[in-house]
Amino acid sequence: MTKLLQINSSLFGEHGQSTQLSQKFIKRFLAVNPDAQLNVRDLANEQIPHLDAEIVMGFGIPEDQKNNRQTEMTALSDQLIEEVKSADVLVIGLPMYNFSLPSTLKSWFDFIARAGVTFKYTEQGPVGLLEGKKAYIMAARGGQYSGTEYDTQTALVRHFLSL
Ligand SMILES: Cc1cc2nc3c(=O)[nH]c(=O)nc-3n(C[C@H](O)[C@H](O)[C@H](O)COP(=O)(O)O)c2cc1C
Repeated sequence: MTKLLQINSSLFGEHGQSTQLSQKFIKRFLAVNPDAQLNVRDLANEQIPHLDAEIVMGFGIPEDQKNNRQTEMTALSDQLIEEVKSADVLVIGLPMYNFSLPSTLKSWFDFIARAGVTFKYTEQGPVGLLEGKKAYIMAARGGQYSGTEYDTQTALVRHFLSL
């Protein structure tokens, strides 16, 4: 059974253009794969905190040395990573806000990028540890940036997901 993970990052929740694009895609996907299972995380409704030094240091220390906040934040990170691990297909709604990614999506990236868990450092640079997944990106923008230096999203998201 195929497992889909839908990540919405529009400020406007289900009314966002990127969310609606994702919904259309998923509707068609489910029509072709009726057994597929869908898990949805809406980053406008359940915001992930910005990464800070306490959180990132907490990721790297043993359980009995973490303070309460570090334990809570590491558990959230573990949960988000588990959602990605158990998915075969990611469908990510990607609006452009102020020439960049929604900060909520960047926070999600920051919580799933964990050295030794989802990627490792090698002599050739960082290498991803989660393999064999497909990602479909539903991008929505007011302007047209494709193929220009102002497309600040495509290369970044492709690079992050392809590690
Ligand atoms: C706060 C804000 C900032 C935006 N900044 C940009 C921008 O820098 N460039 C652009 O092309 N469109 C910009 N837009 C337009 C959105 O990219 C466009 O409305 C898109 O459909 C938003 O996706 P969503 O409906 O899924 O939220 C902005 C919209 C908002 C609300």
